[in-house]
Amino acid sequence: MTRALDDAALLPLADALAAGDWVSGEALAAAAGVSRAALAKRIAQIEAWGLDIEARPGLGYRLTAPLERLDAATIHAGLSPASRARLAGLAKLVVALRVDSTNQRLIEAAAAGDPQALFAEAQTAGRGRRGRDWRSPFGANLYLSLAWSFAGWPPKLGTLPLAVGVVAARALAATGLPGVQLKWPNDLRIGEAKLGGILIESRSEIGGACRVIIGLGLNVAMTAGQGAHLEQAWTSVHAAQSAAGRPAISRTALATALLDGLLAALAQFEQDGFASFLDDWNRLDLAAGRAVRIEGATPLEGRACGIDPDGALIVESADGQRHHLHAGEVSLRLPVAAA
Ligand code: BTN
Repeated sequence: MTRALDDAALLPLADALAAGDWVSGEALAAAAGVSRAALAKRIAQIEAWGLDIEARPGLGYRLTAPLERLDAATIHAGLSPASRARLAGLAKLVVALRVDSTNQRLIEAAAAGDPQALFAEAQTAGRGRRGRDWRSPFGANLYLSLAWSFAGWPPKLGTLPLAVGVVAARALAATGLPGVQLKWPNDLRIGEAKLGGILIESRSEIGGACRVIIGLGLNVAMTAGQGAHLEQAWTSVHAAQSAAGRPAISRTALATALLDGLLAALAQFEQDGFASFLDDWNRLDLAAGRAVRIEGATPLEGRACGIDPDGALIVESADGQRHHLHAGEVSLRLPVAAA
């Protein structure tokens, strides 16, 4: 049996394809340091990372979309001085190639000291809310976790995912992406299509401290092949930019803007709670004013009326009663408006 190659040893092959142009088998074999005959196996290995590769006789191989790998030093250099100070050194910002889940890695890295940020180029067991998987093909999207320790348990910790949604939407707007909205509690959407999601996992620490791992997944350049068979409608930053006639923004610029925004927002949340995010959340609310269906122990139909300062969704039923619903207990469904 042959031993699986280290991910790092396969990187030159992925990098040789990064531009998205056709590359001959000979050139790729040379980049990979293998014989022409051994190349197909190496290609299959990087395809298993989730890279979408086309092969054509006479032309060779190409990625169906160019690959821009992340670099920790570049992201770190792009952060604001305040964020760099919060992160306390480049060592606290890591770009991994492939991990099971960036959240899981940081959950297990408590001893390293927070805050710490981890991006991965791919996740093999990325997790979403409600026990779902999070599709995480190599180099296509952003998979970011930020670990933060609060001195005590914040009074309304349940609003933190909502604040993170606001931060992500603000960062995306600042990088020139129009139309990002929030679907309660913390989906990033463009229209009805999912652009990203947030998964926060918290732990109590000895001495009363509270440690949160904020996980953010954002579809950036996922191809149709990479996103095939996803259960819900999805879109990506690049697809939305192309639809708006704008050039594709780099993953590095997005990664930097998101991490910068998150570091600032965590400090603000620690000081003031959710108050300074509430208005923006309601402004970005995809469901506002729409007919909605609530699934859970007590199903409900009504009209969405925003969220309250505790982050609860307000739904007005036909009898005029206002219900305040908490995330984790219910799911929000948005019937698609008739054309
Ligand atoms: C959702 O279901 O909408 C939340 C998805 C959160 C995915 C991100 S990707 C980075 C971090 N690591 C994980 O395993 N999950 C989160």
